[in-house]
Amino acid sequence: MTIGKFIYGNWKMNGLLANVELAKEVSAAVKNINPANVEVGICPPFTILSSVVSALGETPVVVGAQDCHFNEKGAHTGNISPVMLTEIGVKTVILGHSERRADHFETSEVIAKKAIAAKNAGLKTIICVGETLAEREAGKAEEVVLGQVKASIPEDYDFKNLIIAYEPVWAIGTGKVASNEDIEKMHAAIRATLVAIFGENGNLVPIQYGGSVNAQNAASILAIKNVDGALVGGASLKAADFATIIEAAKNIVG
Ligand code: PGA
Repeated sequence: MTIGKFIYGNWKMNGLLANVELAKEVSAAVKNINPANVEVGICPPFTILSSVVSALGETPVVVGAQDCHFNEKGAHTGNISPVMLTEIGVKTVILGHSERRADHFETSEVIAKKAIAAKNAGLKTIICVGETLAEREAGKAEEVVLGQVKASIPEDYDFKNLIIAYEPVWAIGTGKVASNEDIEKMHAAIRATLVAIFGENGNLVPIQYGGSVNAQNAASILAIKNVDGALVGGASLKAADFATIIEAAKNIVG
């Protein structure tokens, strides 16, 4: 059974109102490519989510957010709750990106709490994991990543609600990509952990790779076993490059 490919753009802290045009360009490209077995999503900053949702209207492009709080409402200055996101038409949320783990000291335990709140609000969750360069050099990459997978997925979670994004921290925004062998090895280890958690259903949880994925390397990365998609940062800010990545995914899954 094939689970298709999941190509998401993570715009990070990039995107003023003018970038709603970029969302429209992505949507037009997706209509044109018509990738039946590829789920395409874009995750703009909070401030333009609503404008992007309205501008896209009825398109197959999923709009996602880059974080949410673990409470529905209350005294949490500066935070955004999952129901605030679903209310405006957001369908997915990225949780535990390494930049949030680093900038906001988010732990896997906090991420698991956020995942529960997100699911309860009806959001699909992309949970990010990945080792630092120091951890890789110390031979601890697998231990760190699998530890994050186990601790960030809540107990009794719905496998249908989940995407895992493996993003080695040292590969993000650096132009350095993990070797195909290292990606294959890590994705196999994550797959085995997902099967340990969910039984056979663990085979149905998509595992994205992220970290300097671009129009040139996407086809080779997306062809690796257990790579079910990509979480794309920099290259998702250029409609043509992002479209090439979507096409690469379509060429693999049809
Ligand atoms: P990058 O970012 O593609 O710019 O490396 C990926 C990510 O952090 O999600």
